[in-house]
Amino acid sequence: MIIAIDGPAASGKGTLARRIAAHYGLPHLDTGLLYRAVAARCLALGGLDDVGASEAAARTLDLATIDPEALRSAAMGEAASVVAARPGVRAALLDLQHRFAAQDKGAVLDGRDIGTVICPGADVKLFVTASPEVRAQRRFRELAARGAAVTFDDVLVDIRKRDERDSQRSAAPLVMADDAVALDTSNLGIEEAFAAAMAIVTERTSRL
Ligand code: DC
Repeated sequence: MIIAIDGPAASGKGTLARRIAAHYGLPHLDTGLLYRAVAARCLALGGLDDVGASEAAARTLDLATIDPEALRSAAMGEAASVVAARPGVRAALLDLQHRFAAQDKGAVLDGRDIGTVICPGADVKLFVTASPEVRAQRRFRELAARGAAVTFDDVLVDIRKRDERDSQRSAAPLVMADDAVALDTSNLGIEEAFAAAMAIVTERTSRL
């Protein structure tokens, strides 16, 4: 069973993907980490401007060496969004994602283009959304809890900017697949969102 979960930054898709994967005992890939890791490598080598260097970083990326903790900052999300707009970077990460999705058991992948580009034949596709204000509030709380010196307004500006870049780019933009089910988590807590997501997954898989 392949479950594709897409949505904008801080929509709750990562938490849902992890919970759903744990529920079914499926491997989970947070594909945002791939772009974050590519961006981190570029920054370590001097900056984001060199398109060739970002493609090379994507081609040589090794999943086993990714440290999620080191990649969680808002700045790295923003840098990831920049390198993710490059077709050569996306192309270089296709094979790794396809291999992950092809595991015998199945898999849960979350990102921006899983249901549209990476796994168009996924058994279940969820498109998780929430209003920009709610997403900014969630992200702000997370960052503040970690001691980051940011304001709510800064976070909201960043979220809007990232939405715009991720959905306006020409290479695999953030769009809902025709056969995805939308889940708006604006007014849902984590448990409610998980229950709503599971109801969709159960309904979809009962038809398989
Ligand atoms: O989900 P995230 O915030 O970790 O993703 C960081 C950036 O990576 C996001 O702004 C756009 C890019 N991304 C992408 O283009 N395609 C994906 N499948 C996942 C992430």
